[in-house]
Amino acid sequence: MRTISTLDDLRSARLSFSGTVGLVPTMGYLHEGHLSLVRRAREECDRVVVSIFVNPTQFGPSEDLAKYPRDLERDLSLLEPLGTDLVWTPSAEIMYPKGYQTWVEVEAISRPLEGAMRPGHFRGVTTVVAKLFNAVQPHRAYFGQKDAQQAAVIRQMTRDLNFPIKIVICPIVREADGLAMSSRNVYLDPEQRKAATVLFRSLSAAKELYEAGERNAETLRGKMKEVLAGEPLAEMQYVSCADYDTLEELDEVKGKALLSMAVFVGKTRLIDNFVLG
Ligand code: PAF
Repeated sequence: MRTISTLDDLRSARLSFSGTVGLVPTMGYLHEGHLSLVRRAREECDRVVVSIFVNPTQFGPSEDLAKYPRDLERDLSLLEPLGTDLVWTPSAEIMYPKGYQTWVEVEAISRPLEGAMRPGHFRGVTTVVAKLFNAVQPHRAYFGQKDAQQAAVIRQMTRDLNFPIKIVICPIVREADGLAMSSRNVYLDPEQRKAATVLFRSLSAAKELYEAGERNAETLRGKMKEVLAGEPLAEMQYVSCADYDTLEELDEVKGKALLSMAVFVGKTRLIDNFVLG
């Protein structure tokens, strides 16, 4: 496994690769969720490239960029045994050189949910992912279903910009008690960690209703809110029952739908989702 940071080194490494190349873009501080993407890429591609870059442009002014957890040594020790070929760790100066002014913005699908709560977030994500795609030129790129809207926005961008890349979305990896794995879970103290299972409980309760035949989206949103309200350490930011493709809020669930939510537990903002249908 090689670890490189300059663009020149990345380009010459990329030129030396034959066969299919899989890219797993990450912001580091890897957990089982990321590792499941790397394993999938390893199964499906001849070469596996993992990028580690904490992308400043997807953090809002009041978000946790400076505090975002980082541990490159640990990340590399997790990636090596999985058969990763190359780890690219570009600097902010490489990704956003002085005078930088080019942005990639996906419109409608970036607006609701996370987009409404975190203005500018997806503009930062799509810009950096487009730059990673250009630099690495992968055949396949791997993302987690946990960031469901991010996955939808990246799929849209890939189609719109004609990137010849297959976007592979991998299932959410959960702790034994249902909490979705996230680099941000390290911020939770033991009491908050217990409370954080409320996201899974709330989504499960709505799914149970759906499985019993409920199709009224407001009833499903109401069930999620009710369970969240029962956890004193949790503060709901939004709950949603939306069309899976357009992310528009539904009145009635007819086809594939996305139940999703963002919830503060203490100062930590957690997101989670289930797909229905
Ligand atoms: O999901 C993430 O970790 C980031 O949003 C990504 C895709 C690596 C872009 O910075």
